[in-house]
Amino acid sequence: MSAVSIVKELELKREAARTGGGLSRIHAQHEKGKLTARERLEVLLDPDSFEEYDMFVEHRCTYFDMEGKKVPGDGVVTGHGTINGRLVFVYSQDFTVLGGSLSETNARKICKVQDMAMKMGAPIIGINDSGGARIQEGVDSLSGFAEIFQRNVLASGVVPQISVIMGPCAGGAVYSPALTDFTVMVRGSSYMFVTGPDVVKTVTHEEVTQEQLGGADVHGRHTGVADMVYDHDIEALAQVRRLVNFLPLSNREKPPVRPTEDPADRVEMALNAVVPENANKPYDMFEVLRRVVDEGDFFEINPEFARNIIVGFGRMEGHTVGFVANQPMEMAGCLDIDASRKAARFVRFCDAFRIPIVTFVDVPGFLPGTSQEHNGIIRHGAKLLYAYAEATVPKITIITRKAYGGAYIVMGSKHLRNDINYAWPTAEIAVMGPEGAVEIIFKGKLKDKEEVDAAVESYRDNFASPFAAAARGYLDDVVRPQNTRWRICRALAMLREKELNNPKKRHDNLPL
Ligand code: HXC
Repeated sequence: MSAVSIVKELELKREAARTGGGLSRIHAQHEKGKLTARERLEVLLDPDSFEEYDMFVEHRCTYFDMEGKKVPGDGVVTGHGTINGRLVFVYSQDFTVLGGSLSETNARKICKVQDMAMKMGAPIIGINDSGGARIQEGVDSLSGFAEIFQRNVLASGVVPQISVIMGPCAGGAVYSPALTDFTVMVRGSSYMFVTGPDVVKTVTHEEVTQEQLGGADVHGRHTGVADMVYDHDIEALAQVRRLVNFLPLSNREKPPVRPTEDPADRVEMALNAVVPENANKPYDMFEVLRRVVDEGDFFEINPEFARNIIVGFGRMEGHTVGFVANQPMEMAGCLDIDASRKAARFVRFCDAFRIPIVTFVDVPGFLPGTSQEHNGIIRHGAKLLYAYAEATVPKITIITRKAYGGAYIVMGSKHLRNDINYAWPTAEIAVMGPEGAVEIIFKGKLKDKEEVDAAVESYRDNFASPFAAAARGYLDDVVRPQNTRWRICRALAMLREKELNNPKKRHDNLPL
């Protein structure tokens, strides 16, 4: 073949790869309100930064007349690019080519970018839109999935891994997103389940739609599998860019620093009025978070799931920080199974990627009840305790109001190697609330309401203040709410070069 004809063929193949499954399928994709695999990468990455690999890869399947169904690229677009100038590796499944199904060869393309991401120490972002294992290929396709999963596990804690679900993700395919750090879904066009509605109907006789079984809201609100849910592709990809801006490229480097105009020593008088006089009245912990972080910019993870705890990223003096905070507006900020799982996962992500953790505490305890006990609050609550206790990144805690019982210990207490612990003057640190405590200590011994009130008052005087804990050194200081931001900034600056190592082990045995 002459050089001229090779160049011509090159152009033809490139054109064929870019067109994927053809114009009518691209049109069908748009009709569903979805972007194509390539359009998604254009939105996700900086303009002109995308470098594609393996555009000419074709499958080698010969069963079921597959020889005639070859499209260069084989249903997945892979390569690298930048997000705000920082390197990321990407793959984007092309639903227009055999439903984006995963073949042996297209799995190899994905594995190649996973390997490159590990070599270079850069995040990997996978856009999923696929009918799952390419059915015509049988076990070859399954082996492809397994190779991807294995790499997901090895990359865990080394480079951030983000899964964006923008179409079907069913069967074993769901386990790659489940192994990654963050899963993003799009309302109305994405769904995830291990067995689809037809199998469910056959086995359990339940009739459910795809949306009801594994739509974005199911996973955003009820299972917590989706960390973020958005209304359309463009919004989802723009938010992934925002998330990446907070993250280090790998565990080899410190989190990024973004210049800020927001003064570290900003005093926030409004914080003095956040906690109500009445200890049983709720208030919005977001109010506190927004007034503390740089420019009020807070990126929440899992916003709809376990709303009794808030987790997310913000910056202090430009440095990324992971925030964990009880939310008194929801179930009085109690810790339950879901909240423990949600926060534990977040704390472990931060620790793996050298992101300091700042915790705001207002927690009346673990949620009581048979449902919680029978579903394993012991094991699940232990996850959060474990996560805080093993974390070696800088850890700062501010108790705004209640810090009762086991939940006091779990939520970044001094006893779990926390570096700096502050309390607001409104803090109450005790085994339980004064009323409950009096009921147990004086069971059957108090004659009337007057005596009960006096006992409650006395318990409150002794323990429902920050001073008992401060007197023992479990708090480093009692700070006025207005000074919270600059006290945290100072503490973080002091802790920037912190070094702490856990004992050597093969690996831990996290209470799963
Ligand atoms: C090969 C596939 C495919 C697959 C879809 N296609 N899924 N080809 N293998 N897994 C093809 C279709 O034949 C069709 O080709 C084109 O993609 C578009 O699919 P449609 O069905 O027309 O689209 P839609 O109506 O939107 O339905 C999408 C769908 C459906 C719900 C995903 O295609 C479907 O149910 N596919 C099968 C899903 C499945 O059972 N996968 C295996 C899961 S088990 P043409 O040429 O007609 O356009 C699994 C195991 C993994 O993945 C295990 C890992 C450990």
